[in-house]
Amino acid sequence: MSNIAVTAQLPGPALELLRACHEVRVHSGPTMLEPEVVAGWAAGADALISLLANPVGAEVMERCPALRIIGNCAAGFDNIDCVEAGRRGIWVTNTPDVLTEATADLAWALILTVTRKIIEADAFLQAGRFKGWELDLMTGSGLQGRILGIVGFGRIGRAVARRGSAFGMKVMATHTSKAINGFEDVTFADIETLVASSDVLSLHCPLNDETRGLLHENRLRQMRRGAFLINTARGPVIDEAALVRVLEDGHLGGVGLDVFAQEPAVHPGLLGRENAVLLPHIGSATREARSEMAELAARNVLAVLAGDEPPSIVVRGR
Ligand code: DGY
Repeated sequence: MSNIAVTAQLPGPALELLRACHEVRVHSGPTMLEPEVVAGWAAGADALISLLANPVGAEVMERCPALRIIGNCAAGFDNIDCVEAGRRGIWVTNTPDVLTEATADLAWALILTVTRKIIEADAFLQAGRFKGWELDLMTGSGLQGRILGIVGFGRIGRAVARRGSAFGMKVMATHTSKAINGFEDVTFADIETLVASSDVLSLHCPLNDETRGLLHENRLRQMRRGAFLINTARGPVIDEAALVRVLEDGHLGGVGLDVFAQEPAVHPGLLGRENAVLLPHIGSATREARSEMAELAARNVLAVLAGDEPPSIVVRGR
């Protein structure tokens, strides 16, 4: 029987699966934890299940000399020091696939909300200002025939691309090294061309040294005037202060952001703008996806503790 530390209550059958064979302790209270809280909670564990709001660095690993796996309950894993985990022979796993469609749906919810002024129109009506149908009331931007640019053509980027084609958009994406059967209509381009060509630019890349600040001020200004920027990936991919300046200049048509550079803080310059739709990182927030994420995180942990290969490997352990 191993000792598993979990940083939050998990939905669905995950905890039951773990408790069937192991000792499990579950942290209660807020899920946004400081590194020392994660380290204190995990101390002595053989396995840790973490959320993306839990920084897992060397100090956590130091407190768990027997740690065999960090099972992140998220597709992203930028909250984990993967280099340090690899150095110590600790497995790192994530939960891809099960949240792909939910996250792609949310990216599209943002695209439609921002291009069709849904929030503004709702507020207008709720304020009693709807006096009858008008030809030019709340006119938005049509999408058909426009270019949808996708940065990061992985699972979620492709799911967003499929929806884009169904909406009659022309899809462009950044190059990918993996096979891409079924996307013959997609045009691949470098980031500069993509940024400069897109009417809607949607971000789906992981956060790493290459993508941090990828959308810096120059690139934001290279976007088409009136274009829309959607981010359901990670906040630090965009230079937020630069984005505020670009929005202030009226260069962009609008933004739809589900993620922020310093969550839960939001750059004050983004708040209160009619053309900025801001969400509290809910890309994968369907009951189904969250339950499957937790279950996959549990299955990854159970596999490693049983001496097997986990289903979704980020870092191979010993
Ligand atoms: C992830 O999984 O990385 C998302 O940001 C949250 O589901």
